[in-house]
Amino acid sequence: MDLGLDGRTALVLGGGGGLGRAIARTLAREGARVAVADIDAGAADAAAAEIAAAGGRALALQWDLAALDIVDQRVSQVEAELGSVDILVNITGGPPPTPVAGQPTETWEKHFRSMVASVVAVSDRVLPAMRRNGWGRVITSTSSGVVAPIPNLGLSNALRMSLVGWSKTLAREVGRDGVTANVVVPGRIATGRITFLDEQKAKRDGRTVEEVAAASAADIGVGRYGDPQEYADVVAFLASRNASYVTGGMIRVDGGLIASV
Ligand SMILES: NC(=O)c1ccc[n+]([C@@H]2O[C@H](COP(=O)([O-])OP(=O)(O)OC[C@H]3O[C@@H](n4cnc5c(N)ncnc54)[C@H](O)[C@@H]3O)[C@@H](O)[C@H]2O)c1
Repeated sequence: MDLGLDGRTALVLGGGGGLGRAIARTLAREGARVAVADIDAGAADAAAAEIAAAGGRALALQWDLAALDIVDQRVSQVEAELGSVDILVNITGGPPPTPVAGQPTETWEKHFRSMVASVVAVSDRVLPAMRRNGWGRVITSTSSGVVAPIPNLGLSNALRMSLVGWSKTLAREVGRDGVTANVVVPGRIATGRITFLDEQKAKRDGRTVEEVAAASAADIGVGRYGDPQEYADVVAFLASRNASYVTGGMIRVDGGLIASV
């Protein structure tokens, strides 16, 4: 299937890490010019270099999403070097595992800024051009916790759920301008983040990481963790011309992890 991404410009936030990097690589392979934004300059550079080595066009941006005052500058740089953003993939870093009760207000504010306010600010910066051009894709990656809250990931469960309400509202506001807005829900896709969470759980429970990972995989419908490419392929479809009638949705890429409908 030709996804019709040739000549499109994509901005992938958190694009240096597991999910974002696979998405950036996949969109580039489909012909998009890709800006890779990450707090870790080395990770952004490596992702962009990988795309360039495969013959694609990429721009690496060191970008701490919590720094809302640099949003305009960073997006302007993308526009100047790659053209106005047609596809925005919102991925933020994940918060530390904690209970939901008793977290200081400052902690909530800090993570709200990097995980929610950042997504809203970047989207608001790119949306006017998408609407003027009559075409755009805003794809927001969250977590299975927005459907089935995950114990001890309270900040993630609560903050990411607000993005679901935001994306759903946005979809109706921009639908007539050719812009779609969707949320993607990863289950357990094998990345550095999942390894980190398994390590933390192993420490808490006095088990080995292998034992934790095996129990975790056993809880998934297909019996294994996902591959980042399996996630990226779904995001690439949502970014495509072909997905023009898919909006306001929440698409699970969880291998059947979430038990409810
Ligand atoms: N992998 C999964 O199955 C899964 C499941 C549920 C939720 N998530 C969430 O999805 C997101 C991406 O997951 P991943 O597995 O690729 O994680 P990851 O840790 O492998 O990658 C995250 C990337 O985001 C970057 N980042 C972190 N803070 C940032 C900031 N303030 N500004 C800019 N970039 C920042 C990191 O440097 C890293 O490159 C995370 O928030 C994670 O919690 C992932």
